[in-house]
Amino acid sequence: MSDLKNKNTMNKKHDETPLLRIRGLKYAYSNDKHALNGIDLDIWNGEKLAILGANGAGKSTFFLNLNGVLKADAGSIELDGVKMSQNKKDLNRLRSSIGIVFQDPDNQIIASTVRGEVSFGPMNQEIPVEEVRIRTEAAMKRMDIEQFADRAPHYLSSGEKKRVAIADIIAMHPEIFIFDEPTAALDPASSQMLEGVLDRLSDEGRTIVVSTHDVNFAYRWADRIIVFKDGKIIAQGTPDEIFRNREVLEAANLHEPTLMTVTDHLKSAGLIPESSDNPRSVEAFVRMTKELTALSEKTTDTGVEQSA
Ligand SMILES: Nc1ncnc2c1ncn2[C@@H]1O[C@H](COP(=O)(O)OP(=O)(O)OP(=O)(O)O)[C@@H](O)[C@H]1O
Ligand SMILES: [Mg+2]
Repeated sequence: MSDLKNKNTMNKKHDETPLLRIRGLKYAYSNDKHALNGIDLDIWNGEKLAILGANGAGKSTFFLNLNGVLKADAGSIELDGVKMSQNKKDLNRLRSSIGIVFQDPDNQIIASTVRGEVSFGPMNQEIPVEEVRIRTEAAMKRMDIEQFADRAPHYLSSGEKKRVAIADIIAMHPEIFIFDEPTAALDPASSQMLEGVLDRLSDEGRTIVVSTHDVNFAYRWADRIIVFKDGKIIAQGTPDEIFRNREVLEAANLHEPTLMTVTDHLKSAGLIPESSDNPRSVEAFVRMTKELTALSEKTTDTGVEQSA
């Protein structure tokens, strides 16, 4: 697999310092097995990064090592070119720069009301009370949880709790947002709303890392995809590069995005020109088919005129 790992497939040219530079990161929950077995990764300012990999591949463990919830056994983390140590000052810096929405909201939620929960993070950042209030209300509005503001988070449904956990992190205004399987508990409308939230955060220049098992989401959303297996990165590249790589898909329990399969099929049936770019979203697919229909109507019209 090393040839896949070493293939530099980034779709943007970067000559500045990465926002996060991770080298040789190792972590074991017990002596017999490493959950992380030497992770090397650069994360660039403003990118949309998807992390894929089978259950147990190490994605959540990796995230928990990034903001010091778990302490790495080996390796280094640089934030904006500055090497982070395990002292309190650096851990605080990591935690205020990297906001993680946990896979399981029950591991994150601590306050007795939703409003208290969402304001908890900014309150601990020692920012003025009025600013905390503004951030809290804005984050609740973004995640459409204002109607739950005075309720106890632990008595919400799992999708509602997940939205509270996401609002928690939005209110903290971190540089890097990490979402660990954010859509897993969400209904389709809430997933779509979340994708809108991710787009807005990205438009505001934030760096976003999302782990997901939803290959269709990763295909349409990510600038770059990282694939984990057994505590290692086995591949990284653009969505097209990753999902064209059968070896990687098989190794990581992944499958092709539906739109890729459908478009390839239409191409081989001669219904779409081979030269067309594969659309990555349903909207792009609809746009492409409309353009092709308009083009074929124009050609037919021209043909009729010429033969008349
Ligand atoms: N608290 C824990 N104690 C012991 N082992 C753990 C613990 N959490 C995770 N592991 C083990 O560490 C490995 C990596 O788990 P991790 O949760 O990071 O995987 P993941 O890629 O996030 O999987 P999933 O897609 O299921 O969320 C697995 O083998 C898992 O069994
Ligand atoms: Mg996980």
